[in-house]
Amino acid sequence: MQSSSAAPWADLESALARAFDPQAARLAVAEHVRHLTRHGDFVRWSRALDALPATTTGWSIEHGWLRAGAGQPDVAALTETLKVLSPWRKGPVCLDGVKVDTEWRSDWKWDRIAPHVDLDGARVLDVGAGNGYFGWRMLDAGAEFVLGCDPTQLFVLQHAMIRHFAGAAANHLLALRLEQMPPGLGDFDAVFSMGVLYHRRDPASHLAELAARLRPDGLLVLETLVVPGDGEEVLVPAGRYAGMRNVHALPSLPSLVAWLEQAGFASARCLDVSVTTTEEQRTTDWMPFHSLADVLDRTCPDRTIEGLPRPRRAALIARR
Ligand SMILES: C[S@@+](CC[C@H](N)C(=O)[O-])C[C@H]1O[C@@H](n2cnc3c(N)ncnc32)[C@H](O)[C@@H]1O
Repeated sequence: MQSSSAAPWADLESALARAFDPQAARLAVAEHVRHLTRHGDFVRWSRALDALPATTTGWSIEHGWLRAGAGQPDVAALTETLKVLSPWRKGPVCLDGVKVDTEWRSDWKWDRIAPHVDLDGARVLDVGAGNGYFGWRMLDAGAEFVLGCDPTQLFVLQHAMIRHFAGAAANHLLALRLEQMPPGLGDFDAVFSMGVLYHRRDPASHLAELAARLRPDGLLVLETLVVPGDGEEVLVPAGRYAGMRNVHALPSLPSLVAWLEQAGFASARCLDVSVTTTEEQRTTDWMPFHSLADVLDRTCPDRTIEGLPRPRRAALIARR
């Protein structure tokens, strides 16, 4: 199918109204539009969306890459247009043949989780979805419908860019925080929260909000930073952590499991713990700023520049 650009929320309300209470869908999309359009760069980003070339839409996953669009673009011009929405953090994605080498090899995270979850026919909520890269992986794994939420406007515009090439698909993204989503958007079969818990001042509230969006016996996939330890340690950084200002609590694995149980989740199981490498998260042409290598202690790479344990991530599943 041929595509040209439209407002980034063109089909969002009707898609959400089909899946949820229409009033909740209307409220959500109104807030989405308000939040997006108040960003000082919204007009500049929208012009980039409008400048995308018409393409033949479609998408597939190949060796972890989301490949979308089958046009024959002017590669230099398309690269320049896509770069208006830098930094590109989550991927990798390839749009009309232009390879967007993102900061993260998000496919590696997906590979650690996907073998353990069955998304066949599922309605999925992806909290902190970024540009929606994982939503495509979820659809590819059999999900019927994916809704992401993420308050970072740039990532929502990147999602709109990707959809320009991919075409209409059941991978939607609201520019909202989880806490802002109308209660009518719920009853999901699976809820993913990856890389969000440590950004929340009150992790218990985040876990309660995740539980509230799941149907009974629904599946939670939780991925977050943890610290080494067999006891119930929780590191609360006094200042920055790995250069980030907004990191509030890093539990040990047993602490994290205890938090899940306190939030009412059952059958918590750890799928994987991995130390994040500078191959998985790195500076690229598409994310030219500091990345992981710049926030590790050069003389002791097990530590961050603040002298804290270097980033390691745990992925867990649990049932509501
Ligand atoms: C570290 S990124 C993780 C992105 C992706 N889920 C992943 O695992 O690679 C955290 C994302 O969560 C989003 N975020 C932060 N607070 C949020 C909240 N309260 N609700 C939803 N998303 C949130 C941020 O905008 C950011 O895109």
